[in-house]
Amino acid sequence: MMLHNPRRSASKILRGLAGGVAVLALAGCHLDMWNQPKYKTLAKSEFFADGAAARPLVEGVVPFQVTTERNPRYSGVDEEGAFIPRIPYHVNRAFLERGREQFDIFCAQCHGRTGQGNGMIVQRGMKQPVSLHDPRVKGMPHGYYFDVITNGFGVMYNHAARISPRDRWAITAYIRALQLSQDARVDDVPEDRRDELSGTPNAPAASDANGGQDDHG
Ligand code: HEC
Repeated sequence: MMLHNPRRSASKILRGLAGGVAVLALAGCHLDMWNQPKYKTLAKSEFFADGAAARPLVEGVVPFQVTTERNPRYSGVDEEGAFIPRIPYHVNRAFLERGREQFDIFCAQCHGRTGQGNGMIVQRGMKQPVSLHDPRVKGMPHGYYFDVITNGFGVMYNHAARISPRDRWAITAYIRALQLSQDARVDDVPEDRRDELSGTPNAPAASDANGGQDDHG
């Protein structure tokens, strides 16, 4: 015959009660969530000024899936698969400043603020990238830079989900400005601003030394 153990049955009852309470709590929770105020997809709204429940995408949103659109603006290549030699945006001061900001956020930690390849992460052990002033890299078309940013290169991870396509082009334009800055001649500075230069100017040379940098835009 089994001995009745009062402590055991008390704990059984308690456990049973606890379980029951949990089930009740969950049921309540389910009901609350089921009935909570919400909009259905593309429903009308009295709340938002434009009358639509769906909200427009915030500026600068990056698509989760890589676009399949065969547009050089999003791929950096033309129909033949060649890197495009131009930047598909109007390059002005604001565009370059945006590029500098994005470069300093996303690239400088490895490539350095001037693109020499000596950023802090490299100083701490990351593989050193080639200088962005290296003649081979300088000679690459604009679309190549867009591609490297978008898809990564060697151990450099890709930035497709981190940087919008427009900003990838802005960074590309800014890299061109960086390259020019390291190789500029006195002739490149507008005549009326040359007296702002400090130090001994390097020997003035022919202003065609820009090596294909003029085709922005
Ligand atoms: C975490 C460090 C890191 C970041 C961030 C990074 N890069 Fe790189 N990048 C590298 C390394 C390392 C290489 C060389 C990769 C290799 O050789 O395996 C490289 C290579 C390159 C190259 C040269 C490709 C060639 O032909 O040799 C370019 C151009 C470049 N990066 C541009 C950028 C730009 C623009 C950004 C910012 C959007 C960026 N990188 C962000 C580390 C980085």
